[in-house]
Formats: sequence, structure tokens, C-alpha cells
Amino acid sequence: MGVYDLTGRKALVTGGARGLGAGMADALAHAGAAVVIGDIREDLGKATADALRGSGVRVGFVPLDVTSDPSWEQAITATIGELGGLDIVVNNAGVEISGLVADLDPDDVRRMLDVNVLGTALGIKHAFRAMRPGGPAGSGGAVVNVSSVAATIAFPGIAGYSATKSAVDRLTRVAAMESGKLGYGVRVNCIYPGLVPTEMGNQLAQDVVTLGLFGSVQEAVGTVVGLTPQGRLGEIADMADAVVFLASDAARFITGTGLAVDGGMGM
Ligand SMILES: NC(=O)c1ccc[n+]([C@@H]2O[C@H](COP(=O)([O-])OP(=O)(O)OC[C@H]3O[C@@H](n4cnc5c(N)ncnc54)[C@H](O)[C@@H]3O)[C@@H](O)[C@H]2O)c1
Repeated sequence: MGVYDLTGRKALVTGGARGLGAGMADALAHAGAAVVIGDIREDLGKATADALRGSGVRVGFVPLDVTSDPSWEQAITATIGELGGLDIVVNNAGVEISGLVADLDPDDVRRMLDVNVLGTALGIKHAFRAMRPGGPAGSGGAVVNVSSVAATIAFPGIAGYSATKSAVDRLTRVAAMESGKLGYGVRVNCIYPGLVPTEMGNQLAQDVVTLGLFGSVQEAVGTVVGLTPQGRLGEIADMADAVVFLASDAARFITGTGLAVDGGMGM
């Protein structure tokens, strides 16, 4: 396994109860890390952790609402208590609520800002406080944020979501700058996933049809595939492997950058 080997590392993956986050938790664990899933959906999160443990890897669960500062404090303390340290935080939790700009619903935009932007910002904050020198897990590490191809292209129906994912991109870069300048020893990077048919991805494909932007789900998905040089949708494992790379020593001189994992859609 070499530089991709995460044996002995301890990781927290937000939004890991299902979808991409569950795949990331699984991939990190199979690379050797001990992993805790943090999610607002406790029953599903526990069930996912139980299922992943079935393949012999170490995966636990902590309740976490990424929009809440006290919830982060509790989750980080619980994670360090359970794993005996913390080296990797994956800020994956996110929500997508489609809508036309002309019909913009302030509550929908606030919800996405709360989870996608504030949730990621708090995740970086608490990762830094835990992993920097003097912190309860003070030997540095890696943060991987989950942006989206939506931050790099203009796809109709997802303006608010795209704005929040562009914010994740900038948060990543400024946080990496501060970590370097202040000697935290924490690398901060993000990935930009292409469309993956998770519950979120499938809902988005339905929503752009409901909004009248495409004639059918097949047409919407076909348009995305047509815009993708590699000619297919993303898979959960595509995103999970990129997270393992950025979390590992193979990425030891990589910080403040974003990795497009989108088959070339956003190039
Ligand atoms: N699926 C895609 O096509 C796609 C593409 C690009 C980026 N992304 C991003 O990848 C990430 C994961 O997406 P997914 O497709 O797996 O979505 P999903 O909806 O299937 O899963 C999201 C998870 O986040 C959790 N979550 C939501 N709000 C939370 C909160 N406040 N605190 C803690 N957990 C919370 C949910 O309970 C759920 O388990 C998101 O950030 C999403 O924006 C997804």
C-alpha cells in the first residue's frame, strides 16, 4: 500500500450515514484508518457503521449536526475519546435544494448556506483546534472538504447550491493558508465530485425535470454525461479513492488545492 496506507490514522467523516460519505468512510477504513461517521441521522448512521464493520474494518458513529458549534465540540471529543486521536476530517455533509433563480426561496438558500458553508467552516475550525500543536490530538493531519463540479460549471437549477460549493472552495484555500502560516501542520484540500447517482444526485436529476429545464430524467442525465469527456456519471468509489489520496502521505506536499473528480466535466 505504501504512501496510501492509512494504518494507525484516525478519521472523522461527516454526512457518512449514506451516499458518498459512507463510501468515503469505507475506503478510509479499508486503507487502514480507524473511522468515525458523524451524521445528523443517528439510526441510519449507526446502521451504516455496523454494516461497514461487517467487513472487518474499524468504523464507529457519533451524532453530529455540522451546523452547530456545540455539536462539533461534542463530536470531536467523542471521536478522540473513541479513537485515541484524530488525523483526518472529511467535511462531506451537504444538502442540495434545486430551484430557479427567479423563484428563489430564502429559506432554501439559508439551509444550504447553513449546512454547506457554515457546516464546512465549523468542521475546519474544530479540526484545526483538535489537530494543531497543543490540541487534544495535536500532531497535525489532513482536512478534505467536499465541494462539487457545481462550483466549476454553470448548470441550470442549482444556483444557490453552486454558490455554497464555490464558498467551500474558497474556505479550503484560506484555511490552508492560515494552517501553513500558523504552523498547525494540517493540510486542507477539497474535491469537486461530478454527478453521482446517490439519493442527492437522483433527486437533483428529478428536480431539474420538475423545474422544466429538461424533458425527462434520462435527458438530464444524458446532458451531464454528454458534457463529461469520460462519458459516464461518477461512482461513489471514484470520490472515496480521491479522499483517501488527499488524506494520505501521497499528498504530503498538497494543500490549498481542489481536485476535480468529474471525468473532465468541469475542465
Ligand atoms: N451526489 C452527487 O452527485 C454530488 C456531486 C457533487 C458533490 N456532492 C456533495 O457530496 C456530499 C455528499 O453527497 P451525497 O450525494 O452523498 O448526499 P446524500 O444526501 O446522499 O448524503 C448526505 C449526508 O449528509 C447528512 N447531513 C445532512 N445535513 C447534515 C447536518 N446538518 N449534519 C450532519 N450530517 C448532515 C445526511 O444525513 C446524509 O447522510 C455533499 O456535500 C454533496 O453536496 C454530491
